[in-house]
Amino acid sequence: MAIIGTDIHQAKTFLEQGNVVGIPTETVYGLAGNAFNIEAVTRIFEVKNRPTFDPLIVHTNSIERLSEFVQFIPEKALLLAKKFMPGPLTMLLPKHSSIPDLVTSGLDTVAVRIPNHPLTLELLRSLAFPLAAPSANPFGYISPTSAQHVAKQLGKKIPYILDGGECQIGLESTIVGFENEKVIVYRKGGLAIEDIVKIVGKVRVNSHSSSNPKAPGMLKSHYSPRRDLLIYQGEKLGNNLDKIGYLAFQQYNSEIPKKNQLILSESGDYKEAAKHLFAYMRELDNMNIDRIYVELLPEKDLGRAINDRLKRAAVKV
Ligand code: TXA
Ligand code: MG
Repeated sequence: MAIIGTDIHQAKTFLEQGNVVGIPTETVYGLAGNAFNIEAVTRIFEVKNRPTFDPLIVHTNSIERLSEFVQFIPEKALLLAKKFMPGPLTMLLPKHSSIPDLVTSGLDTVAVRIPNHPLTLELLRSLAFPLAAPSANPFGYISPTSAQHVAKQLGKKIPYILDGGECQIGLESTIVGFENEKVIVYRKGGLAIEDIVKIVGKVRVNSHSSSNPKAPGMLKSHYSPRRDLLIYQGEKLGNNLDKIGYLAFQQYNSEIPKKNQLILSESGDYKEAAKHLFAYMRELDNMNIDRIYVELLPEKDLGRAINDRLKRAAVKV
């Protein structure tokens, strides 16, 4: 069983040996390994049970160090990096040959991110290599926002989880790519599109489905709980209300017993809602119920990324 602790030196030792370790970030927990080491990267795919056509994000601690694994940084990328890194932003940049093809699933871009978490930044500073890290959940399940979530699902397969507390943002990073002069959003996430637009002007949002790795995180059933999850559209919920779980944005649904309901943010704060989202989906998944209804949020700010995750988690009818 994994040790859960705050010992950066211990985490560093495991990583230098080619092991994989759970690491905290402000978005979700990652399952990290040496991005330059094929055995460590292979182990990440195995532990997550993730298909190798789904590429990994490479994490480092400074913009300067990006040159260890990207060829160059386009002008708009540099603007965004200076504004939002460290932070919940991932950029697709031209890959350097130092990164094994396995990390990028053979693509010629590499996804790069500087996570904004003090423990992980210190860990990255102390290492001579960047860390490849997907979210630390079994492939297809809800992403972890605490060390305990990681331990519960992957604890038997990894030696160490660095405990950085509850994730402050709670949604995966926003992924952007660059084509000629255009900025393209491939995954809605913890950085609101509105904030990106303020820096680089208009962007194209291209986060639609398929199993094509150019459409990141976009596999059909993703972020899913074990119970059926359905989008609530104001319909009558019928009998057996005791067996229905409900994830509300601001207010309880008067039809359903309160004990089966969780509220993302009573005050309607998108950041608070994002921070609670995955933990509440897990909590509902563990209740004695048959199915979960969820409310969509207004389609703005982090509401867009929250809705994206809810729709992906929903059963397709
Ligand atoms: O917040 C986050 O981004 C977290 C933390 C741990 O950093 N990581 C994360 O990783 O969400 P993951 O592997 O669960 O999602 C990364 C997504 C994948 O869906 C993958 O398809 C996409 O990024 N991706 C990675 N490299 C790519 C590339 N070169 N081109 C297109 N998509 C890429
Ligand atoms: Mg993931």
